[in-house]
Amino acid sequence: MLNLRQARAALAQWFRSSRRDLPWRRTRDPWRILVSEVMLQQTRVAVVAPFYERFLERYPDAAALAAAPEAELLAQWSGLGYYTRARNLQRAAQTITALGRFPDNYDEIRALPGVGDYTAAAVASIAFSLPYAVLDGNVIRVLARAFAETGDVQSQSVRVRLKEEAQRLLDPRRPGDFNQALMELGATLCLPRNPQCLLCPWREQCAARAAGLEHELPRKSRKREPLRQQLTLCLVEKDGALLFRQREAHSSRLAGFWDLPEARDLPHAELGPPLGAFRHSITRHDYTVEVRSACVLRAPRGFKWLTPRELETLPLSTMARKALAQFHAT
Ligand code: ADE
Repeated sequence: MLNLRQARAALAQWFRSSRRDLPWRRTRDPWRILVSEVMLQQTRVAVVAPFYERFLERYPDAAALAAAPEAELLAQWSGLGYYTRARNLQRAAQTITALGRFPDNYDEIRALPGVGDYTAAAVASIAFSLPYAVLDGNVIRVLARAFAETGDVQSQSVRVRLKEEAQRLLDPRRPGDFNQALMELGATLCLPRNPQCLLCPWREQCAARAAGLEHELPRKSRKREPLRQQLTLCLVEKDGALLFRQREAHSSRLAGFWDLPEARDLPHAELGPPLGAFRHSITRHDYTVEVRSACVLRAPRGFKWLTPRELETLPLSTMARKALAQFHAT
């Protein structure tokens, strides 16, 4: 079992020497911390890092994002996916701007649109040194192993237990570093399949390792099967422009985004040979997407020809981006 003082000291020392130099670790500005945590909610560090810098050049404070046109924001966000986050972040920016300051306590931060328990604890601890423990996928794995938690980590009761352990372990003098150190441990050493126990600051204290359970834990109930689907996207070219369709305002997640036509949208089109294929996963859907050139006599209703220059300023779906990358590669 973990000795509190030793566990904190070993973790802090390891984090000081091993932390990755990530752009959001060079600031205490709560706006910048909030943006990083929202981006990191569903997107990996390697993808977020370059986006983050560009995004903050454009929106260096909440007021700048609060005033941005939505289409511009979505274009800036495209590539990160899960666009509801971008819309919520803008609503949060508007709340902060109306308030005249960034909220500096947990409850007010938690009340911002798009901010759940995890993000509120991360921002409160990193930007304001408030003693709130975070629990994300990485932290759950680390703690489930450290405490040899054998229950299903997807169950509410186990989550509550791990949250209590995290809160008890949290170093109240440096809560932001403590939280980030646990995330870092999960991201770099306490890996799902190949935990690097020999390098771990908790190797002597980890209950899973002591019991030889480090490869078994955490336990999860069976994952739901992904929904596999096939579709064909068409690259229809005319005078240097490509055919696109804008998702309708009520289409929820991708409302306002531009997409390539699917073959089934163009029943009268003549399809060319396949140009390539790629996989695209979103939530439970696992798409295999084939890309083909196609010819149509005129744009069907609801479709529009867009030039490369127009495309630069419009929000494109990630699937359309991937298909265009195949096109440019051929
Ligand atoms: N994932 C979520 N928040 C993070 C952070 N602050 N640093 C590294 N990875 C993270």
